[in-house]
Amino acid sequence: MSKPRLWITRKLSANTEARAKRDYDVILNPNDTLSSADDIVRMSKDVDAIIPCHSEHFDQQTVARLDSRLKIVANHSVGVDHCDLDALRQHGICVTNTPDVLSDATAEIAMLLLLGAARRAAEGDAMVRSGNWQSWSPSFMVGTQVTGKRMAIIGMGRVGQVMAKRARGFDMPVHYHSRTRLSSELEQGATYHATIESLLPNADFLSLHCPATEQTQGIINADTLALLPDGAILVNTARGALVDENALISAIESGKLAAAGLDCFTTEPGGNPAFAAHNNIMMLPHIGSATFETRDAMGFRALDNLDAFFSGKQPTDRLV
Ligand code: DGY
Repeated sequence: MSKPRLWITRKLSANTEARAKRDYDVILNPNDTLSSADDIVRMSKDVDAIIPCHSEHFDQQTVARLDSRLKIVANHSVGVDHCDLDALRQHGICVTNTPDVLSDATAEIAMLLLLGAARRAAEGDAMVRSGNWQSWSPSFMVGTQVTGKRMAIIGMGRVGQVMAKRARGFDMPVHYHSRTRLSSELEQGATYHATIESLLPNADFLSLHCPATEQTQGIINADTLALLPDGAILVNTARGALVDENALISAIESGKLAAAGLDCFTTEPGGNPAFAAHNNIMMLPHIGSATFETRDAMGFRALDNLDAFFSGKQPTDRLV
């Protein structure tokens, strides 16, 4: 029997590509070029499966033009806000994602940004690197201590739970809001808040770990930022769409927020150039899951889902 034809839209880890070549009639992208909606539509005529990343958009208009040959979109990402799931469902296309395997890596980046924002790491690095470190005194580059402060988490899924565990390592009492309350075994003593409004006054540090959906778009805005304690620190490693970036800048300028650590932006790639004027905003280019180990694990998870699908089983991470 001939192997299913698979298009992998971006350059993935060498181990992932080797396994894909072994098991599929695969089209790779060695130059890692970006694909347009027209490219996706054209390729759908020639393949049974696509492994895309969050950089390829399966919006309603694109999905409506997909060829019926395409049977499965096995995302190389946990977030699926680049996919119109209803449209894909109506089109009869199976959709999977890669949960679990990136939780540790993403929580590491969230903790890096939390610590870096609190202790002015980006500012200090820039100063030393540029040769502008000219003095030292006890009042020099004083930041916010992390140990023992209250950690608030929105979205206590897999990444949120790892973040809570890391925060406990810094003796931080954990508060959280999620659509559903965790069991007490998973809560590990964290305090549940049924609403964001109840959570935010407890957020010395606020870390976002929920997906971007119609319901969560812009949940961090002028009204919700006002509920934070003065001098709070915001960390976003989830999606840029969760935050109203103009409101964030206003909160940084007024001092309501002492600092922010961001791995996600409304516009990606590129970010928000207005943030660059504020050295208390530490920024990274959406690299939460970018470790060698996690890239292999994400690629293998996407391939596991494809293998299940093409052997007539239910893919573990089937969303649609
Ligand atoms: C994810 O998996 O959603 C990460 O943001 C990388 O795409």
